[in-house]
Amino acid sequence: MKVTQVKQAIAKPFIKWAGGKTQLLHETDKLIPSVFKQTQFTYIEPFVGGGAVLFRMLQKYKNNIKNVIINDINTDLTNTYKTIKNDVEGLILILSEWEKEYHSLKDYPDAKKEYYYKKRKQFNERSSDKTTQAALLIFLNRTCFNGLYRVNKRNEFNVPIGNYKTPLICDEDNLKAVNRILQNVTILNGDFEETLNYASGNTLFYCDPPYRPLNKTSSFNSYNQNDFDDNEQIRLANFCKKINSAGYKWILSNSDPKQGNPEDNFFENLYGEFQIKRVFARRNINSNPEKRGELTELLITNQ
Ligand SMILES: C[S@@+](CC[C@H](N)C(=O)[O-])C[C@H]1O[C@@H](n2cnc3c(N)ncnc32)[C@H](O)[C@@H]1O
Repeated sequence: MKVTQVKQAIAKPFIKWAGGKTQLLHETDKLIPSVFKQTQFTYIEPFVGGGAVLFRMLQKYKNNIKNVIINDINTDLTNTYKTIKNDVEGLILILSEWEKEYHSLKDYPDAKKEYYYKKRKQFNERSSDKTTQAALLIFLNRTCFNGLYRVNKRNEFNVPIGNYKTPLICDEDNLKAVNRILQNVTILNGDFEETLNYASGNTLFYCDPPYRPLNKTSSFNSYNQNDFDDNEQIRLANFCKKINSAGYKWILSNSDPKQGNPEDNFFENLYGEFQIKRVFARRNINSNPEKRGELTELLITNQ
């Protein structure tokens, strides 16, 4: 009998999210303690965002990771993870329908605009069922300007329409791959500090918080209606110290304040007892293409 092998897609982020870590993946890889390459461990991401590191870890260490916990304070985002995990078929049905409708309007800019803003309004009402709400988030992410996610203080998504002609809205293969990989993942929607309750035995935390802005105008951390200010960065550093005292390992990424001001020792002061590494990373969330480029970022660990 001839067995034909169906190649399954590799799961990758299903949404574009500010601070996506695809550029830093090889650097974070190097920081994984060697003990985790040989034994079973629990993996926790308190700030999962788009999940670039998560998907990489789940595929690379699939034989070693026995427990996975992801968390984000953004309810719309975690609802989307949960929907892909629990109702991917329902989600694909809605997205493929909307994709057909949206593409059919490609030569009618006014009708297309009307369609987009109607969906944005529906998303902001937050009165649809969970699967529709997840579909709305993915639809908006795929069709909005620059594919970014930004909300105002009232938690209303406020990004205008983008100018993609026929964007891919329903990436069925990837959604199914993400569905498979999420089956054993616990998805939480709360504050990062709560994730410590889920650690046990060999545990690795990867923390990718909203970056500390290099200056007031470069600030982009509106993933939710609450600002992640310096007091939050200090609370996070205390959390990392707590994880360390409990005997667990962590890796944390953040912006490098020395890019803005070489005298700025904010993270050196907070994480002086740990290892701070500067790595090159390409940032691409800046809407001004001239301001995109290479910057150093920090990777801090307790090994
Ligand atoms: C930089 S993003 C993560 C990027 C992600 N790792 C990636 O590769 O795309 C930071 C995330 O932290 C979340 N966040 C902000 N404050 C939080 C808090 N107090 N507890 C948990 N998550 C929080 C935001 O909603 C956002 O999704």
